Amino acid sequence: MSVEIHINNVVKRYGDLTIIPGLTQDIRNGELFTLLGPSGCGKTTLLRMIAGFNSIEGGEIKFNEQVINDIPAHKRNIGMVFQSYAIFPHLTVRENVEYGLKLRKLTKTEIKKKVDDILEVVRITEYQDRLPERLSGGQQQRVALARSIVIHPSVLLMDEPLSNLDAKLRIEMRSAIRDVQKQVGITTVYVTHDQEEALSISDRIAVMKKGEIQQTARPHTIYTRPYNIFVSTFIGHSNLFRGHVQSTETGKAVVFADGYTVPMDNLSEEAGDGMEVIISVRPEEFSIQQEGLACKVRTKVFLGKYINYSLGFPEEMLLPDQPSIEFSQDLGHAEQVLEVGDTVTLRPNPVKLNVFTSDGSRNILRDVVHHE
Ligand SMILES: Nc1ncnc2c1ncn2[C@@H]1O[C@H](COP(=O)(O)OP(=O)(O)OP(=O)(O)O)[C@@H](O)[C@H]1O
Ligand SMILES: [Mg+2]
Repeated sequence: MSVEIHINNVVKRYGDLTIIPGLTQDIRNGELFTLLGPSGCGKTTLLRMIAGFNSIEGGEIKFNEQVINDIPAHKRNIGMVFQSYAIFPHLTVRENVEYGLKLRKLTKTEIKKKVDDILEVVRITEYQDRLPERLSGGQQQRVALARSIVIHPSVLLMDEPLSNLDAKLRIEMRSAIRDVQKQVGITTVYVTHDQEEALSISDRIAVMKKGEIQQTARPHTIYTRPYNIFVSTFIGHSNLFRGHVQSTETGKAVVFADGYTVPMDNLSEEAGDGMEVIISVRPEEFSIQQEGLACKVRTKVFLGKYINYSLGFPEEMLLPDQPSIEFSQDLGHAEQVLEVGDTVTLRPNPVKLNVFTSDGSRNILRDVVHHE
């Protein structure tokens, strides 16, 4: 009943403006697939093409083997949840959830059973006789979720469903959505520009920029082995250093601009002696050591479990236009706490380094995947 979605070279144009120049992506049966990217990159546009609310100017979208380009929205058997809850204020929770079922030819007993079940799944049974105005934002969003899945759609589409909720509720609703989605087993396309939400909820993430997919992979892969500098800096913080490759008889290394050298055994063939590269270090992958990169502590922010330091390096060591160079120190393991003005040597964890071509377009480690 749930389906695979095949998006083959689809194009979206508004007049002369091309929003999506040709996008290809498969979405697996039953997976929670997230489109993540900055505002205006085309996430909603693509979702609306899948839903049938946007025309398709090129390529095709298939549900399993069926091309759906010309099938009207109401015949695509889709459930949708948006940012605004779009539930009826004058109907009770139960009536809201029943609504879609009443339009179908089902007996009273069948409807009651389906609604009972789904209220249970999204944990709103106790509020079933209330009007929406007497529910919290998270409870209203659960009603919207229940209403969209009770009709057993083939595909569930969600566009920033949590962005109207406060921070604590958003986190609670993440696991609620994930649990419900897995329990019902429905192929889901989820749109967000919140990277943490994407990392926590998704089976796979596609990172988009200007209508093009930069990388599709599992959350852990996206974070630890970003395909290019855009992905690396869009998801989490990445400190970017200038460097070059050094090739010796014993193997390869990357050399930072101050001469600090890190032997690497996972550089691809392409990494030749002298090649200019960008070396990327996550803030949590520094440790205070005798040997490493010398820098100065500029600011210090205490965050409970962590201390975040902003670091000063000689300008020639860094890529320009970075908001800050950060070191995030886990206080569970820290032996030495730094103060503003301290000079320190930080060793980047070699196995966690990422190395990119000097234009930032490609990670040149061997185990990087563009699409998994
Ligand atoms: N009806 C339209 N006519 C012309 N341009 C449009 C139309 N709808 C969207 N666009 C443009 O298409 C681009 C992608 O918009 P879209 O709404 O898909 O972005 P998004 O990734 O969902 O962003 P956000 O995170 O802000 O919701 C934007 O540049 C937008 O201005
Ligand atoms: Mg949008």
